Amino acid sequence: MGMFIGQNAALVQTITQGVKAATGLPLIVKLTPNVTDIGTIAAAAAAGGADAIAAINTVASIPAVDIDAEVPLPNVHGKSTPGGLSGAAIRPIALRCLADIGKATQLPLSGIGGIADWHSAVEFLLLGATTVQLGTAVMFQGFKLIDPLCKGLSNYMTQKGYDRIEDFCGHAFAHLEAHSDLRTGETLCVRIAASVCTGCGRCVTACESGGFAALRLVKKKAVADPQRCDGCGLCALACPEKAIRYA
Ligand SMILES: Cc1cc2nc3c(=O)[nH]c(=O)nc-3n(C[C@H](O)[C@H](O)[C@H](O)COP(=O)(O)O)c2cc1C
Repeated sequence: MGMFIGQNAALVQTITQGVKAATGLPLIVKLTPNVTDIGTIAAAAAAGGADAIAAINTVASIPAVDIDAEVPLPNVHGKSTPGGLSGAAIRPIALRCLADIGKATQLPLSGIGGIADWHSAVEFLLLGATTVQLGTAVMFQGFKLIDPLCKGLSNYMTQKGYDRIEDFCGHAFAHLEAHSDLRTGETLCVRIAASVCTGCGRCVTACESGGFAALRLVKKKAVADPQRCDGCGLCALACPEKAIRYA
């Protein structure tokens, strides 16, 4: 029912208005990511009088298929139905949704989706959240993860010279542009740290099969041909040692 309402901007506005009229408490409207334009839904909640937005809820999914029984999971007496994906896998979706909501409203945002440590919490704060929430990570690891999260966040803020969340909230959001406004036209070239490269060859395979065949192994070290490299970044993603960067 929640997802059904959350997919309809008019319903979101009407129900937000109704709840707001019925309570003096602050009203935080939590949004589903299972929509085409979450900004429109957030704007509807704002128009209905929401005090803040929380996002995201789980991402509609079928987690797997039992290939022996030939039934999607979870198998409920031979039948199944789509459910909600949560945890680390949805963090990139949640970050994008948060940014879209930030563009559509000025309301305070509470970031949710795959947060499991101080680093991921900071990502949401930098994209404009003023608070964060954890679900799946606590379910799996227990509340013991909260103290290290707070400590890591505190260390980050000290290192950066920040006293309050407001000092860095939204800093990354401010760097988001439309794709068409990004500066393009100059090609970056891959730089491989030979001392870190183990010669595993994953970058070579990635570049050959999905890139520009610009890499090869020479004496068990990846070497780039700058004439062929397009700066696509695939090799850096494939490198388990983080030996590749671009300049
Ligand atoms: C088992 C489970 C139960 C959940 N129940 C609710 C719920 O009752 N109401 C709600 O708004 N969100 C519910 N959620 C969604 C979470 O609050 C959260 O929005 C989502 O899981 C993404 O955050 P996470 O990756 O930190 O879990 C539930 C999530 C899980 C995994």
